[in-house]
Amino acid sequence: MTRTKIRINKFLSLCGLGSRRKTEEIIKKGLIYVNGLPMTDLSFQVDVSNDIVTYKGQVLLPVETYHYLVLNKPKGYVTTTKDERNRPTVLQLIPEHFKKEGTFPVGRLDKDTEGLLIFTNDGDLAYKLTHPRFKVPKTYRVTLDRPLRDDHKLALEHGIELYGSYTLPATIIPVNDEWTTVTITITEGKKRQVRMMFSMLGYEVTGLIRIQYGPLTLGNLPPGKYRILSKQEIEKLKSFVN
Ligand code: URA
Repeated sequence: MTRTKIRINKFLSLCGLGSRRKTEEIIKKGLIYVNGLPMTDLSFQVDVSNDIVTYKGQVLLPVETYHYLVLNKPKGYVTTTKDERNRPTVLQLIPEHFKKEGTFPVGRLDKDTEGLLIFTNDGDLAYKLTHPRFKVPKTYRVTLDRPLRDDHKLALEHGIELYGSYTLPATIIPVNDEWTTVTITITEGKKRQVRMMFSMLGYEVTGLIRIQYGPLTLGNLPPGKYRILSKQEIEKLKSFVN
């Protein structure tokens, strides 16, 4: 008999419990049981054909139908599944049946950032799209409180010190003649990275919209609306990270 073993965080992600990082938190809280016993060892390998894995009393099985959506996130929505302060969450903008099948946002956007947010229950793709190793480029349209200086543009493109290390090379393209609106493409995702990069050089970001994630563009999707990705878009995303 062939035995397929998968690391527990990846198994839970395949069952639609969220990103691998999120499932690790669930494991650490002691909420996952394997063959009737709590399992908090993050390195545990699930034997897919023999182990019974449960969460809140429910037996977990890998998801069979994958969903891939893109939302144009409006300002004011948080990218968490639940918010203690009762602020609106991006999950409220997605129909119930996708959520029931474990569809979750891929990565995060700040509350006041707008734009392209991918949702899926394909834990493997979500992992690859967000893991720093895959260096997936993300492009943002940035509005600044004053014109971007040429030397600052070069500094940001080369990399500046942020949170104790240098940011990876970025590309900046001015959008208007005054250079108060630019696009920036980065291949990492430190906390509030774009706002912080400009803030380190004394600028305030007054508007931030993500317009591209890897090969996927926002297009003319209105704020607050989602659409289901086409087969070609899903294939493009997958081959981008494989
Ligand atoms: N950079 C930011 O500062 N905020 C975001 O939401 C995304 C990238």
